[in-house]
Amino acid sequence: MDLIIQPPHTLEGVIKPPGDKSISHRAAIIGALANGTTTINGFLSGADCLCTLACLRALGADITGPDEGRVTVRGRGLNSLCEPETILDAGNSGTTMRLLLGVLAGQPFYSVLSGDPSLRQRPMGRVTRPLQAMGAKIWGRRDGQLAPLSVRGGNLQPLEYTLPVASAQVKSALLLAGLFTPGETVITEPYPSRDHSERLLRAAAADLQVEGNRIRIRGRQPLQPLTINIPGDISAAAFFLVAGCLHPRAEITLEGVNLNPSRTGIIDALTAMGAQLEITPAEETGGEPAGSIRVSSSCLRGLEIGGPLIPRLIDEIPVLAVAAVLAEGETTIRDAAELKVKESDRITLVATELARMGADIAPWSDGFLIKGRSHLHGAVVDSHGDHRLAMALAVAGLVATGTTVIRGAECMAVSYPGFTADLARLGVIWREGEA
Ligand code: S3P
Repeated sequence: MDLIIQPPHTLEGVIKPPGDKSISHRAAIIGALANGTTTINGFLSGADCLCTLACLRALGADITGPDEGRVTVRGRGLNSLCEPETILDAGNSGTTMRLLLGVLAGQPFYSVLSGDPSLRQRPMGRVTRPLQAMGAKIWGRRDGQLAPLSVRGGNLQPLEYTLPVASAQVKSALLLAGLFTPGETVITEPYPSRDHSERLLRAAAADLQVEGNRIRIRGRQPLQPLTINIPGDISAAAFFLVAGCLHPRAEITLEGVNLNPSRTGIIDALTAMGAQLEITPAEETGGEPAGSIRVSSSCLRGLEIGGPLIPRLIDEIPVLAVAAVLAEGETTIRDAAELKVKESDRITLVATELARMGADIAPWSDGFLIKGRSHLHGAVVDSHGDHRLAMALAVAGLVATGTTVIRGAECMAVSYPGFTADLARLGVIWREGEA
């Protein structure tokens, strides 16, 4: 589908971003392993999280929904899953594949996991290697590093492991595998990455301790069911945070957004760039801090970012790059080589597609050099099947002159099925069609 966008005269309104994607996956998985009924409100009905539900159902989990954001998982305990009759399809979702690998490693049966062409190119060795070290048998292309992957799990032993890169997916896969071992699994991360798994596992009464960058989990302990209201996804909100800063007549309120400090790097970066953001904390929800964010038109300046900030805003870098293109001065983004192995090679493709609209952006092996104050003009650009690239380009289209056409925009439904409806809510006129 082509999404055709005209820059609106004003950008004003209130948006309630969809439920957090990372938390939705985890709540469903943990619910399926708990003893009793887990009720999840605000579950993200994006394609990625629907894949997780479909895989869990294929493993015998009893799940109803999502029905207006509500998912009910009737868990029957750690040993309740059964051998799937068919290949488990993780679609485009790295989180589904990596977290389920951790679960499957603990199962005394055979299963096969695959996904779409993008997911079949993404590195899985970072998960399969430590799971093999715990005793799981895993086969796949390139010596078990690429999907399709087949797993024969069971008889796992605990592991002490230091992650080579800060990755919440790898950390979570190993914590989930640790549930099936007879002892204590200890994971150390180089920098803190999102900690939703730790929060949810603790809420489910797992024996889990966090000391600095080290997490310990004791296996074979029963999990309690959860009742959880998932807060809005800050990674979805980020598109409107940037749009609100860049548009000259903007005032947007984003309600019920997850403000977990491991995810708020985009707020820190935009604030350092001079963004007009007003944050009003609300009650915790789902064991996570939440609140509303009001953003209004801002004069942004360039910024140098790298190091521990990067895992805290990794998924927001495509849209942060759009902010940098219009900011005053230069922006450098370093230490973000992980972007090359996301849903697309986001370093190459963010640079290529934004350059079509007039951006001055040079890709590096681990980030970008962006010269600000470019004039963005409408162009025909391509999502390359990457949901976050599609939405970042849509934000660029809101502040470009003329018409922007985003090819392959249907992939936005991977994480934000209501994105165009929310654009319309802010007064943006868009249509679908051929350029
Ligand atoms: C996610 C972790 C991050 C992030 C991804 C979601 C998660 O990936 O980019 O979109 O839910 O754990 P990595 O763990 O590979 O850094």
